Amino acid sequence: MEYRRMGKTGLQLSVLSFGSWVSFHKQINDGLADELMGIAYDSGVNFFDNAEVYANGESEKMMGRVLKNKNWDRSSYVVSSKVFFGWRGKENKPNQKGLSRKHVVEACNEALQRLHVDYLDLFLCHRPDKNTPIEETVWAMHHLIQQGKILYWGTSEWSGVEIMEAHRVANQFNLIGPTMEQPQYNIFERNKIEKDFLMVFNTVGMGTTIWSPLASGLLTGKYNNGIPEGSRFGLKGFDWLKDQWMHDDILKKVQALSTFAKTLNISLAEMSIAWCIKNPNVTTAILGATSKEQLLQNLKSLDAVEKLNAEVMKQIDELSGTKPILPEY
Ligand SMILES: NC(=O)c1ccc[n+]([C@@H]2O[C@H](COP(=O)([O-])OP(=O)(O)OC[C@H]3O[C@@H](n4cnc5c(N)ncnc54)[C@H](OP(=O)(O)O)[C@@H]3O)[C@@H](O)[C@H]2O)c1
Repeated sequence: MEYRRMGKTGLQLSVLSFGSWVSFHKQINDGLADELMGIAYDSGVNFFDNAEVYANGESEKMMGRVLKNKNWDRSSYVVSSKVFFGWRGKENKPNQKGLSRKHVVEACNEALQRLHVDYLDLFLCHRPDKNTPIEETVWAMHHLIQQGKILYWGTSEWSGVEIMEAHRVANQFNLIGPTMEQPQYNIFERNKIEKDFLMVFNTVGMGTTIWSPLASGLLTGKYNNGIPEGSRFGLKGFDWLKDQWMHDDILKKVQALSTFAKTLNISLAEMSIAWCIKNPNVTTAILGATSKEQLLQNLKSLDAVEKLNAEVMKQIDELSGTKPILPEY
């Protein structure tokens, strides 16, 4: 396993990590979660990702039970939670979501209880909150760090401008600013990492814990001939994902990428994940899996990176047609 420093911090994250969105509680039980986290940890994965909103808090509870059962040395792994959406879904009352000081502090305390840990290594603002001044959120995160309840804080799906505003506030008041962002990044979703954030990487510095490296499974080729039974796009409540990704033009590209991966003697999943971590601005790619076979295949992407030479990367750009156009100076 390779480890990368998270932006300008001293914290090292395994370049592949493991997350629980959709899968924990909705698709897999405690036994399989225990097995998958065990395989990941034994392969060198040191970061496990979670959020208050996943399965309405049940995902954190499941991960908490696994962590308690495993009894791994607390210093050997990094665990995250994210605040913003609340965990009560439609039942959320006004202060039970968002990035106010009240919800940030309460969400942190609740995540600690659900995960059975004394502190969160990473605590992320799951989305920007247009109704809370960024200054209030920066102060709240700083206080949580001072209290020892979190070690680092960051953002998810914030714009470069919002991230820089958080840094401006932190600088102004001598507070600890955000150190990582969690954006979507995969062959089909490239703009933030490859364009919008370049100035942030080059100035204040920023780690990235990227999500959906396989575009929710699309980049395995599993949806090329319809929706396989039990897979994510077919789950109740996930029609929006199917609507986002299952279009003829996208599926044709996936097909072409699958054929190309075969010429490299690797699966499309391995090629797609390797492609993500090939980018040095990616600190870690968070994997998702609902079976042992999936996870083992995805972990093999570490060995696939060396196959992605300049010519192969160019081919992927051409087949996908998604390379962002940067302004010329
Ligand atoms: N910050 C955010 O807003 C945000 C948003 C989304 C995710 N995340 C984080 O990122 C993590 C990873 O995201 P993700 O789960 O969307 O990652 P992903 O790798 O794009 O998708 C994972 C899913 O694809 C399918 N799959 C994976 N490997 C496969 C294989 N080898 N063959 C066939 N199918 C395979 C599985 O679903 P099925 O078996 O059901 O098909 C699996 O659960 C999440 O767990 C979460 O921690 C964060």
